[in-house]
Amino acid sequence: MRSVFLSLGKNKTVVGLARKYGLKLGATKFVAGVEIEEAIKAIELLNGQGKLATLDHLGEYAGSKKEAEEAAAMCLRTLEAIAASGASCNLSLKLTSLGLDADPEACERYMRQILRKAGDLGNFVRIDMEDYGHCQPALDLYRKLKADFPNVGIVIQAYLRRSARDVAELGAAGANLRLVKGAYKEPESVAYPDKSDVDRSFMELIRKHSANGYTAIATHDRGIVEETIAWMSEQGIARDRFEFQMLYGISEELQKELVAEGYAVRIYVPFGKDWFGYFMRRLAERPANVWFVLKHMFN
Ligand code: FDA
Repeated sequence: MRSVFLSLGKNKTVVGLARKYGLKLGATKFVAGVEIEEAIKAIELLNGQGKLATLDHLGEYAGSKKEAEEAAAMCLRTLEAIAASGASCNLSLKLTSLGLDADPEACERYMRQILRKAGDLGNFVRIDMEDYGHCQPALDLYRKLKADFPNVGIVIQAYLRRSARDVAELGAAGANLRLVKGAYKEPESVAYPDKSDVDRSFMELIRKHSANGYTAIATHDRGIVEETIAWMSEQGIARDRFEFQMLYGISEELQKELVAEGYAVRIYVPFGKDWFGYFMRRLAERPANVWFVLKHMFN
């Protein structure tokens, strides 16, 4: 089931149809809208509930120079819209949407423009981590950018066997990391196949990185959230050295509890026409969501 959703999310015909027909199948539960104005409205509501946000203009795997250029322009527009609204919100993006595959030099140029603009506006940009094939190129580019821009961070996936080494190296360089379990389908040669190993690796990465650099713990797993809180308190790690992150529309009760306890909680808010791949990854994570989609279809 997981593989079916993940491959549907990459199918060009289906993705093209989804783009044409706008948010359907109940996707509004996970995606804040198609237009930036809708996303800003959603963020203002979240800010009103005491939550921070990170805005992601959906899109990945730019197939042409024009698509990559448009994605970069949209990142700049998004930073401006955030600044104009005064929202507490930073930016998340995917390097493949900026043409990492087709033209890595142009991708770096776009990233420099985006980071310069974010710096001018006092904002921060997080590079999402995609499938394994893009992990090393993303880390290489991140390191180059970090040498010139303090306002850039990246994501590390606990399911990858290499991540303990990456976190040790990035931590020594004072990186700001978002730690996640990992959302793509990867072979056993590079990723742990068992959930228990992924969870164990996740906690190890949290322990390791929280001693070195700012840590965003991005999960809806209550067990991991509770273990993290216990660890941070035992180690005397101040609350301004870490934050919890969750996805728009998921585990809202846990989000609320953490805000009430005074923890920083940032919500990842995706928007845009290219919602289908993201939506399929959310279904792949939790087959129970399929019932929710079917209900919408019958309605
Ligand atoms: P797990 O899958 O064990 O779920 C724990 C509980 O959370 C479930 O029992 C359920 O209650 C709830 N839950 C989880 N997923 C749900 C869903 N789709 N619908 C409803 N409930 C759900 N991945 C990646 O590869 N690269 C990236 O850059 C990012 N970025 C990112 C940012 C943020 C803010 C978050 C929260 C997550 C990501 N991810 C990601 C996704 C991440 O890798 C992972 O796939 C999801 O967070 C689901 O895993 P959990 O840690 O929530 O645990």
